[in-house]
Amino acid sequence: MTALEEFLVHQPAPSPAPSLGIGILGAGAIVNAGHLLAYQEARYNVVAIADVNLAAAQQTAARFAIPHAYDSLDALLADPAVQVVDFAVPPWVQVEGAPRAAASGRHVLCQKPLALTYDNARRIVEAAEAAGVKLAVNQQMRWEPLVAAAKRLLDAGWIGTATGARIDVNINTDWRAWPWMLDMPRMEIFVHSIHYLDTMRYLFGEPALVFSRGAWYPGQPGKGETRTLTVLDYGPEKQVFVSAEHNNQAGDTYAILRIDGTEGALGGRFGVFDNYPHGAPDDLWVISKRHTNGERQSMQLPGTWIPGAFVGPMGDLLRAAAGGPEPLTSGRDNLKTLQVALAAYRSMDEHRAVAPEEIG
Ligand SMILES: NC(=O)c1ccc[n+]([C@@H]2O[C@H](COP(=O)([O-])OP(=O)(O)OC[C@H]3O[C@@H](n4cnc5c(N)ncnc54)[C@H](O)[C@@H]3O)[C@@H](O)[C@H]2O)c1
Repeated sequence: MTALEEFLVHQPAPSPAPSLGIGILGAGAIVNAGHLLAYQEARYNVVAIADVNLAAAQQTAARFAIPHAYDSLDALLADPAVQVVDFAVPPWVQVEGAPRAAASGRHVLCQKPLALTYDNARRIVEAAEAAGVKLAVNQQMRWEPLVAAAKRLLDAGWIGTATGARIDVNINTDWRAWPWMLDMPRMEIFVHSIHYLDTMRYLFGEPALVFSRGAWYPGQPGKGETRTLTVLDYGPEKQVFVSAEHNNQAGDTYAILRIDGTEGALGGRFGVFDNYPHGAPDDLWVISKRHTNGERQSMQLPGTWIPGAFVGPMGDLLRAAAGGPEPLTSGRDNLKTLQVALAAYRSMDEHRAVAPEEIG
């Protein structure tokens, strides 16, 4: 066994999640490919699902043996077995519904983006706080195998002090699969790169400034940008950026993470985009002066982003609801991710670097 395998084999096991009744709003693509497969594996207790498209709710309920299918949030909230509401609907539906779910005394898991404006996101967070319920956001990339391993290696000092990081994604996304996204004037960061921005926050904390450019592709479907390049300023001794291109025409798609440090480097490849959303395993490599004698070690990581990582935010929320620590991706924490995303959009509009605190 290599030093890398030895280090990663001892995964810290999360404490068991209490069995609260979960009601899901939305029976679309990600609930079927992500949420419910993960919850089934983790034995979370899903008691109901609702969708304006009742047939979709019923089909998903049948597939996953969920006792009740409804056609609205109101019907879901009228079910006393629902103690947690898991939102998986377009952001504007979540903005209207999440405060109501919280006011009814339910704990809430929101999808990303929490909202499209800072004020709306803050309203959701404040509604949960006023009601005394727990709120988490489904930024589950923090539990994604490559990101989780990178975080552990960084924290354990394998590559010394990080001096630079990039997430570079060049894939082909057919946005027509999500008709509701096509009218969004701002899109890529809100629905996709927000994961990468949240990951950079998870790994390195708060950037002082955000500089971003968005671009379109000839003939692309949808109004919003489909290619973004965002530089996060962590001071003069770190170079951090996120690049996302969704119009790869060459068939050589890739999605990588690389982090350089004073005593080595680490990186890897995200497998999820090989036949999204089912994907392939992630690859991880590391070169560490101290732990690998400067030699490159690599391995395939167990686990998946979709559905595997979806266990994380819900598990955290369930534990918080039972008196455990605040979720890693709590609503309060996520306001900072949204500030970075909105700073990126202001940067595109105004052609300047924007401090996240300018937002809100
Ligand atoms: N965390 C992740 O990695 C991830 C991945 C994909 C999607 N998402 C997010 O999850 C959400 C859903 O995405 P999706 O890919 O499943 O989209 P989708 O279009 O496949 O499904 C959305 C579902 O919401 C339902 N819906 C719309 N309005 C509703 C309303 N008022 N009440 C009840 N149901 C309503 C639709 O009928 C549809 O079934 C979005 O916010 C998206 O950004 C997150």
